[in-house]
Order: sequence, then structure tokens, then C-alpha cells
Amino acid sequence: MFLGKKTARTALAVFCALAVAGCGFGAQGTKAYAASADDPYNINIGIGGSETEVRFCWQSASSKTGQLQIAKTDDVKSGAFPAGSTKYAALERVTATEGYLDNAVSTNTDHPISSFKAEDGTTALTDEYSNKVTVSLSANTSYTYRVGDGTTWSKDYTFRTGSAADGFTFAAFGDPQIGASKNVPHDTAGWADTLRKVTAKYPSADFLFSMGDQVNDYDHVYQQQTEYKGFFNPIASADYLQTHILAAFTGNHDFQMGKYYSYHYNQPNLSPLGQTVTNNVPDRNGDFWFRYGNTLFMVLEGNNFYGVSAHDQFMSKAISANPGVKWKVTAFHQAPYSEANHDGATSADDDVMFIRQNWTKLMDKYDVDIVLNGHDHYYTRSYQMLAGSPVSTEKTQKVTDPKGTVYFTLDSGSGSKYYTYNTSQDHSFSAFGWQNNVPTYTYAKVTDSAFTLTTYATNSDTPIDTYTISKTQAPASSSKGGSGGTVSNPASGTQPVSTTQPVSTVSNPPTGDDDGNTPVVFIIAAGALLIAACCVAVIVRRKKAGN
Ligand SMILES: [Fe+2]
Ligand SMILES: [Fe+2]
Repeated sequence: MFLGKKTARTALAVFCALAVAGCGFGAQGTKAYAASADDPYNINIGIGGSETEVRFCWQSASSKTGQLQIAKTDDVKSGAFPAGSTKYAALERVTATEGYLDNAVSTNTDHPISSFKAEDGTTALTDEYSNKVTVSLSANTSYTYRVGDGTTWSKDYTFRTGSAADGFTFAAFGDPQIGASKNVPHDTAGWADTLRKVTAKYPSADFLFSMGDQVNDYDHVYQQQTEYKGFFNPIASADYLQTHILAAFTGNHDFQMGKYYSYHYNQPNLSPLGQTVTNNVPDRNGDFWFRYGNTLFMVLEGNNFYGVSAHDQFMSKAISANPGVKWKVTAFHQAPYSEANHDGATSADDDVMFIRQNWTKLMDKYDVDIVLNGHDHYYTRSYQMLAGSPVSTEKTQKVTDPKGTVYFTLDSGSGSKYYTYNTSQDHSFSAFGWQNNVPTYTYAKVTDSAFTLTTYATNSDTPIDTYTISKTQAPASSSKGGSGGTVSNPASGTQPVSTTQPVSTVSNPPTGDDDGNTPVVFIIAAGALLIAACCVAVIVRRKKAGN
């Protein structure tokens, strides 16, 4: 019976392949992968609002509506997807804004990619189209998928959804920032090495989590394009980010070209709260949240650092929508408590200082357990912080039912760039700091009773640091009100504060993270042959599947 069913399915696959080639009907058949100008790229499986949702995103030069074919791996027979596997994408023509101009064809407003020129200064770039598809899946299940435009398809990829039934795990990284070293191949090699080691050591990690600054370039669309391809596909043969779920958000580098960032990710529960605007064009970033099991993750748009009121509203809404969670984690790019360069060394770090003075009050107000940051390319773990001060300065790696919030600044995930200890500042908030110019990652294990974060350098299996928060108490009420008092509107002096949602203006000053490209003017801103080919393709795939 099984053989008969398999044979019937193979026949169906051939039929469907012919149908696709001949009249564009149906999409269950597959063909062998071959490079094409319309190949999808930057394919990523974005984190969903819960462990049973994933949010795909990819780009392509094809202007045809994208398609995702996805099915449980066991149901994909001989390379053919079963009926009902096709989901259609939301398609958008990609645009970008270059905030700092030295490309003659660029302007300060939003333009399609074909308005920009390649590195040679004369050749127009090829337009890009972004595709996004969100799907609900079963937990703890292997899925196989491919994306394309109905004619040109990616390879088939397989990934596994996670499960939070008995807790969950994830691996976090500080700024991969592909291109920061001015050597994209170097940075992508480092990023690939980190991903290889993490996915080998922790193959069942439920998702990967990047702290912003996935790419580096401020100035050139063509360069940021290259960096995105390096980030999403650091090594062509490995497909790390096509086979693992990714959570990622903006750093100060990612958002420099207006909406361009937004075409690369498909964020869950994305709010207009926290969004930035470039030249009256919303950047379509903003705060977003996802819930994984017993944990609420709230991601705040760090580039809107003056928008405290908006972030406050967002956190209130996210917490209200997720009552009874055991753990609350907030992630944003700029680290308020780091020992390294951005610790107020220059006026360029006003964003960091402002966040330290104001955003930390939100963490107090909402009883956030853990804050994850990037930006400083240097590892720092704070003490439990409350009202701007350590709850205790006892050196410990385990706390139970603690007061306050612990802040983690994560070091570079790729080795593209490192910062050094800032000798001129007071770091009394710091419980542990580390820099050894080696890429690092932080592995988190979460249960109802404990949240443990263990950080490794990629050249050793001996942890740099580990920290465990244990809870013996019931989940905090969403309206507990915090142990850190109230948050007042942080408006002071002439600083623009977003008191009315949802967006801030574009008057934020330059952020730090200066790599020599910091803009002077900073603007925040997005037939028969074919039938024969398909027949051959099906045959090739069948042979491949049989090996
Ligand atoms: Fe960075
Ligand atoms: Fe940064």
C-alpha cells in the first residue's frame, strides 16, 4: 500500500510539474535548483508571535508575488510538496533612503533600489522586491519549505519548530555587523563560524537572537545589500539562517536607510509605537513582542531613544496582552550598562546615557527580569539594577527571587569589530566585564523556575560567564506595578520627547558606534522546452531523493 501511495504521489508530482510549466496552474511540483536572476535571497525564518508561528521573509528581483511551499517533512515525498502547501506572500517593491550622501544618484527621500547606483558609480542597481509570509505550524515538528515566485524557486530547506512545553532555549549574539571591519568576507566568515559552532553545540536551540547591527554600512545601498547577503547567507553551503528560526531587530546601523531595514524582516506584533520617521516617511520599524512559552520578549526600537512615552505604552500593552508570564525579557540595541566605549565617553553616546537615565525606569516599572543589549561589542553583565543602582554588589552568579533587573551587553557575534574598556567612567553597575577580541554567543535556558544565561567565546567550551535567576514565586501579575517606582516623562531641557505616539521626529543626534562613517548630518529617519525541463527536473529530484 505504501509503495502504491508513493508511486501515485510521484505521478502527481510529475503531473503538477507539467501543469506549472504549461499553464502556471498549481504549485506542488518541484524542479531542480538552478541559479537564476530571480532567485530569492536573504531568506529567513523569522520568529513568530508564539512558538507555533513563523514569519518568512525574503527578497528577489522578481516582481511576481512570492510563494512559500511548506509541509511537514514527512509529507514531502520525492521532492514534491503535497496539495495545499502553497502560501502566497505579501509583495512589496523595496525602497531605501540614504541618510548620508556621497552617492550622486541618491537623495534624502525614499526611492526604489533602481534609483541607486552600484559601486562603479554608473550602473543602476537592480530593483528588489520583498516577500513576507506568516504561517502557523505545529510545535516540535520538522518542516520542509522552499520560496520563489512560482517559476524560480529556492532550494528546499528543512527546519524544526520548537516547543516550550518543558521550557526552551535560545542563543543570542551581539552585533554581527557585517562589514564593520571593512572586509565583508572576513566578517561573514566569522559570523559563519559562530553560527556553525552554536548550531553544532546546541542543535535544539529553539531560536537565534541577534541584538541589532546585523549590517554596518550607513552610506551605500549597494554595500548594505552585500552585507545583508553576508548576514543571511554567510556561507552558501550551510544555510544556517534558512534552517533556524531567527529573531533580530534594528541597531543604529541597520536603520540608516529608512525603510530598507523593514524589507528584511517580518516582525511579530509590530507596533507603530517606537517607530522612527525619516523625512516624513515612517521607517516601519518600531517595538514588537513575541511570547515563547512562559516568557514575554519585548523588543524596543533603540533608535527612537527619546520616545520613552511610546515605549512605555508599548510595554504596558504587550504585558496586558500576555498575562501570567513567568519571565519578562526586554531587548534593544544600545546598552545602558556597558563597561566599554559607549559608556558616555563622548557626546555621541548621548543616546546611551539617555537610555540609562530613562529607559531603565521602564524596566523597573514593569518588573523586567532580563535586558539584552548589543551596540558595545563588549560583554558586560550588570548587577541586579533597581532605580539606577545595584541592589547588591555581592559577586554572585546565582540569585533567587531577586529584586531589579539584570542587563547583559553582548559582545560581537562575528568578530567584525570590538570595543575596549572605558577607563574614564565609573562602572559601579558592572558585576562582570570581558573582552578578549573573540566572537561570543550567549546560550539561554529557560524553565518555569530558572533562567540561565551562559556566555561562550567561540574558541573555547569553557564559559566566560554564567548567571542564573531562580524563581520560587508564582508568576508576577502583569499589573504588579514594579518594584522600582514610577516612571515620569523624562523630558528635560530641550530634548525632544515623544509624548504622543506613535513616532518620534528625525532629530535624534548621531549615535555612537563610530566606525569613521558616522554621518555629519544624521537623519533617521525602507512551453514545451519548459515542460521537458520540468520532467528532467522531477527525474533529477527523484534520483537525488533516492540516494
Ligand atoms: Fe555595533
Ligand atoms: Fe550599534
